Amino acid sequence: MRASIIYGAILGLSTFTKLCAAASSCAPSLPPRPTVAPFPYNHGKPHAVSPRRTKTCYVHAFGNGQDDSQIIFSAAKACNNGGTVALLDPKYIIGQALDLTFLQSVDFIIKGEISFTEDINYWLQASFKYTYQGACLFWQFGGKDVNIYGGGMINGNGQVWWDRMVTNITLQRPILVGVVGLQGGTFNDLSLSNPPNWFHFVANSSDLIFDNMTMTVLSNNSNPSKNSDGWDLYRSDAIVIQNSYISNTDDCVSFKPNSTNVVVQNLRCTGSHGISVGSLGQYLGETDIAENLYIYNTSMSNAGDGARIKVYPGAVPGSNSTSSGGGVGIVRNVTYNGMHDTGVDYAIELTQCYGQSNVTLCNMYPSKMLIEDIVFNDFTGTSKKYDPTVGTLVCSNQTACQNIVATNINITNPSGKVAQWTCKNVDKSTLAINCV
Ligand SMILES: *[C@@H]1O[C@H](CO)[C@@H](O)[C@H](O)[C@H]1NC(C)=O
Ligand SMILES: *[C@@H]1O[C@H](CO)[C@@H](O)[C@H](O)[C@H]1NC(C)=O
Ligand SMILES: *[C@@H]1O[C@H](CO)[C@@H](O)[C@H](O)[C@H]1NC(C)=O
Ligand SMILES: *[C@@H]1O[C@H](CO)[C@@H](O)[C@H](O)[C@H]1NC(C)=O
Ligand SMILES: *[C@@H]1O[C@H](CO)[C@@H](O)[C@H](O)[C@H]1NC(C)=O
Ligand SMILES: *[C@@H]1O[C@H](CO)[C@@H](O)[C@H](O)[C@H]1NC(C)=O
Ligand SMILES: *[C@@H]1O[C@H](CO)[C@@H](O)[C@H](O)[C@H]1NC(C)=O
Ligand SMILES: *[C@@H]1O[C@H](CO)[C@@H](O)[C@H](O)[C@H]1NC(C)=O
Ligand SMILES: *[C@@H]1O[C@H](CO)[C@@H](O)[C@H](O)[C@H]1NC(C)=O
Ligand SMILES: *[C@@H]1O[C@H](CO)[C@@H](O)[C@H](O)[C@H]1NC(C)=O
Ligand SMILES: *[C@@H]1O[C@H](CO)[C@@H](O)[C@H](O)[C@H]1NC(C)=O
Repeated sequence: MRASIIYGAILGLSTFTKLCAAASSCAPSLPPRPTVAPFPYNHGKPHAVSPRRTKTCYVHAFGNGQDDSQIIFSAAKACNNGGTVALLDPKYIIGQALDLTFLQSVDFIIKGEISFTEDINYWLQASFKYTYQGACLFWQFGGKDVNIYGGGMINGNGQVWWDRMVTNITLQRPILVGVVGLQGGTFNDLSLSNPPNWFHFVANSSDLIFDNMTMTVLSNNSNPSKNSDGWDLYRSDAIVIQNSYISNTDDCVSFKPNSTNVVVQNLRCTGSHGISVGSLGQYLGETDIAENLYIYNTSMSNAGDGARIKVYPGAVPGSNSTSSGGGVGIVRNVTYNGMHDTGVDYAIELTQCYGQSNVTLCNMYPSKMLIEDIVFNDFTGTSKKYDPTVGTLVCSNQTACQNIVATNINITNPSGKVAQWTCKNVDKSTLAINCV
């Protein structure tokens, strides 16, 4: 195997590459690539085979707080088409936006910490920006067949962003991990901390597995973290998210428009807003699809919701209809199988009246987002905020929700009263819960 050593530290900004006849002659050995496979469920599509890598680019950090983004970029270029970029030093700094959407069959081994600089003014102008929900990214991975692993940490240093938000609520904060247009890949055994915004934005991608990720967000003062969603999937297909721990303050997983064939399993979420489909149907003239989602064996503690499906009603004529509902589409074949709740507000919250506080208006202009073939099965645990109410299922009319099934649901509340559920415009004959 060939090895390249990219020495950032020696020649300043220009990199120096030393080629070794054999990796063992000049470079440390690498941990083996872990086997990452969906378990126990899969979405039905095969995961592409990822061939063995045949060369290695070792990246040596400059150290002393200097920016390593250029040498990481150079290594990704040098090891593209079949190599491994090895980031084995204790700390790397990224101070420039990194566009890694050209990748073809590359692995990244991250052993230490990758830390993003706190230069808000730089990132405001240089981050990669997308129109969908104003998403912007520090760096973005795309291409084909990419594996990222190694036990290391990716640190967004979100605190400076949350602090700045106190005086600027519209501050465009970068998402920690951008995955844009990646077909085939795995993310395994990494810790992510303090994203200024979401942890992951996965867009225009397919055939990815996220496994054994540990994600935590914690403000060190009274300015809270904001929008720290674990994963937001958008225009993406055939994704598995499994065996991970997420402690955050917003959705644990969020299925945004056009999320299809996704399995989420064995997650532990704490502090979140739940595993959420939507919000969808927000934009008049747009079509949103969320289909074939299977959420298995998750636990949810101190969260707003456990399982959540939120879609907008139809647009009210004369309202500011560009962003307050009216979108068409479907939420179909979504199963939540096995969820254990500890102290959630609602164990299940399904609404077709999202963003419309006036229920009369919601019923007058029912949602054009059909919700059908939804299963909630095997829910245990406790709910507390709205005791004795433990969940709510509110559709905008009888035909806009079809075949919503709830079985084997046992959610209790602190008062010990019989748990109650709010059910509106939904067929109660398939709901084995106490609708009031
Ligand atoms: C999961 O990640 C943790 C923390 O990095 C690591 O210690 C453990 O070995 C990983 N487990 C598997 C099965 O890869
Ligand atoms: C809190 O975060 C800020 C910004 O990252 C940092 O400068 C400061 O040292 C941190 N304070 C503590 C007590 O960790
Ligand atoms: C808030 O941040 C945005 C960038 O995200 C910027 O365009 C705007 O000017 C800032 N507003 C203030 C009052 O600084
Ligand atoms: C996804 O693909 C569409 C169509 O090619 C493009 O307009 C969009 O910018 C891409 N990226 C994201 C994040 O939506
Ligand atoms: C459910 O997920 C937990 C991790 O949260 C795991 O320890 C347990 O083995 C899983 N159970 C099943 C039946 O898959
Ligand atoms: C979602 O898919 C539908 C159907 O293919 C399409 O009409 C719509 O434009 C897509 N939306 C996005 C945001 O890509
Ligand atoms: C429902 O979605 C699951 C998970 O993606 C999939 O395995 C199953 O085949 C889908 N069912 C139908 C009827 O499409
Ligand atoms: C309507 O939407 C536009 C564009 O998003 C916004 O500038 C305006 O303030 C909104 N008006 C109202 C009454 O919400
Ligand atoms: C809700 O909308 C209806 C129909 O426009 C209106 O009559 C009623 O006053 C509204 N209720 C509230 C609380 O705004
Ligand atoms: C329910 O809402 C849908 C979508 O707006 C509409 O097509 C349908 O006619 C409504 N059904 C009833 C019974 O009002
Ligand atoms: C529901 O859960 C409670 C608390 O764990 C338990 O005591 C009760 O037996 C369960 N009920 C059923 C029907 O399983």
